[in-house]
Amino acid sequence: MPQNASAAALKALTEWWEEMGVQVDQGEIDAAMRAKSVVPGLPRDVPPHAPEATQEAPDQVRGERKRRRGENKTLTDWVAEAESLAAGADTLEALKAAIKSFEGCPLKQLCDKTVVYDGTLNAPVMVLGEGPGGQEDRIGLPFVGKAGQLLDKMLAAIQLDRKTNTFISNVNYWRPPGNRNPEADELAVCRPFVDRMVDLAQPKIIIATGGVAAKSLLDTKTGIMRLRGSERPFKTPAGTEVPLVPMFHPAYLLRRPQDKSRAWRDLLLVQARLNEMGVEV
Ligand code: URA
Repeated sequence: MPQNASAAALKALTEWWEEMGVQVDQGEIDAAMRAKSVVPGLPRDVPPHAPEATQEAPDQVRGERKRRRGENKTLTDWVAEAESLAAGADTLEALKAAIKSFEGCPLKQLCDKTVVYDGTLNAPVMVLGEGPGGQEDRIGLPFVGKAGQLLDKMLAAIQLDRKTNTFISNVNYWRPPGNRNPEADELAVCRPFVDRMVDLAQPKIIIATGGVAAKSLLDTKTGIMRLRGSERPFKTPAGTEVPLVPMFHPAYLLRRPQDKSRAWRDLLLVQARLNEMGVEV
């Protein structure tokens, strides 16, 4: 079988497994593919994902991350490049193009698509999740898998939807292998784009779904259990101030439906805050 054909077959098989509800460790598959050199553009000697890299000495890990980005640039260099690209974008569409052109996140080499945003531009409500999963990576839009379907239902319960009043994005634009959480440096290179997105979209309220998004946006180690239940102030470096409501991630609610009542309370908080600000939805 030609190498590309076997790569395509393995990809189709893992997609099918995922659709059947089997948990697929994409990192392990990447490693197996790399060992056989069936993934074009992925060198054999590059660790597929960070959990393996962290078993190495810190200096090696740092060196490896630099190499994985394909240039001798440091994290600081890439953050500076993200800041400059973000600052140069004057519209959300231009920002999307800038994010797609950015090569500073190592996750980009391991996934199919750059997933930026969906929904209504300049909507009063902005939802920020942690990053694309398998379905999002295939389709190129945020929150389109099972968790996304639940998110749509949750939003609809307070008259919010993508078509009229809600903008949806993530704090990371590339699917991590095996759906692991994005790491700190992966979030750091995305952050200038996230801040610029808030500056350009000027939402009245932000809903952060899940601990990864909430902790990253609020720059705190406090977990979602303690963050949710009240509004938190969010401010971009350019000075845009928006109230942020941390909420359970819909994927968590699919696993723990008994916590839906707490998510409902958070949705009511969003609704009350929009009413208070005179925002009609
Ligand atoms: N989970 C997220 O946090 N974001 C998505 O886009 C999809 C699933």
